[in-house]
Amino acid sequence: MSIVVTGGAGFIGSNFILEWLAHSDETVINIDCLSYAGNLSNLQSLQDDRRHMLKVVNINDRDEVAKILDQYQPRAVLNLAAESHVDRSIHSPAAFIETNILGTFSLLEAVRAYWNELAAEEKKGFRFLQVSTDEVYGSLAAADAAFNESNQYQPNSPYSASKAASDHLVRAYHHTYGLPVLTTNCSNNYGPLQFPEKLIPLIIHNALAEKPLPIYGDGLQIRDWLHVSDHCSAIRRVLEKGRTGEVYNIGGNSEMTNIDIVRAICALLDQRKPRLSGSYADLIEYVADRPGHDRRYAIDSNKLQEEFSWQPLETFTSGLEKTVSWYLSNAAWVEEVSNGDYLQWTKTQYS
Ligand code: NAD
Ligand code: TYD
Repeated sequence: MSIVVTGGAGFIGSNFILEWLAHSDETVINIDCLSYAGNLSNLQSLQDDRRHMLKVVNINDRDEVAKILDQYQPRAVLNLAAESHVDRSIHSPAAFIETNILGTFSLLEAVRAYWNELAAEEKKGFRFLQVSTDEVYGSLAAADAAFNESNQYQPNSPYSASKAASDHLVRAYHHTYGLPVLTTNCSNNYGPLQFPEKLIPLIIHNALAEKPLPIYGDGLQIRDWLHVSDHCSAIRRVLEKGRTGEVYNIGGNSEMTNIDIVRAICALLDQRKPRLSGSYADLIEYVADRPGHDRRYAIDSNKLQEEFSWQPLETFTSGLEKTVSWYLSNAAWVEEVSNGDYLQWTKTQYS
């Protein structure tokens, strides 16, 4: 038995594969084109592990994907490959259309053709799991109830619009062709191996380099945060028990403002690696707001909790402590990923 994971060299994908192989001996075929966000060193510990097979292939390459499916006959395909950073989607939306919409379409076509040829029993057991985001639901006002699975899709950024489009395609492939799909919509993840373009690793990285800590607008935007290990356990649970055609929201019950997160990171760094003088919080700098910045995301994950007794194991406090420790102990990883493309990106976004 085997599963295919797309985007398995990225942040969530690599955490998922490492956790999967810690729990199971089932082979993982990792389809990843190694974009700027894909990093082989995330999977270095699996270098000699025959249960992990990396295929450096773009999900838009339908023929290559079809060959992989034919060769390995997976019982499931989990789609994590994506362009994932909102700010990049504002500067350069085309790549988001290319991968998130056209890539998912191409992948679905390859999977549909493969699935159609399976014997009845395998056909029934097969799953296509789409890993999506809470951002497809749009933005909440302070007093609004958290997003549940029946909220209308109201995406506001090119990133969330492209993810919404791919989710719609996945839904349509179930409704039209009967493909056994599952969709998860998760809140903001944080944890080890996250590229330092996203808020939490960016703040840790900048603080340690004595660079300004950029807060967009008033810093009072709210996100729900989930440690990546809890996201991975929820995906495993949905893959195992989810009802096909259903959507499952995944969240951490941890709504935080951006400024509170940045202050919490500074306080942890002040304890663990004090500056020569003053606090890391002295580096906080308010900068121009992100265009179209969503004010608040919050996730109601009662369906997942009630149906599968899933609970996040990390609180935001325990998860952030572990994350800061990981970045402090893995300076070489951060150094390696903060190379040419990263420097170019920070110049484009922050100068
Ligand atoms: P990431 O940017 O860290 O990794 C994406 C991976 O996909 C990289 O390894 C990249 O090389 C690969 N990839 C990109 N385009 C590809 C293509 N055309 N073909 C093959 N591989 C390609 O992203 P992430 O944060 O790990 O997110 C993974 C998934 O989870 C995405 O679908 C994202 O929308 C979703 N998600 C992320 C979060 C979050 O907070 N990071 C929250 C909810 C949902
Ligand atoms: P991010 O990590 O990019 O995730 P998303 O936009 O998908 O929620 O950003 C999280 C929040 O932090 C978001 O409200 C934007 C804000 N932010 C900053 O204030 N400064 C920054 O430099 C970055 C990258 C994000």
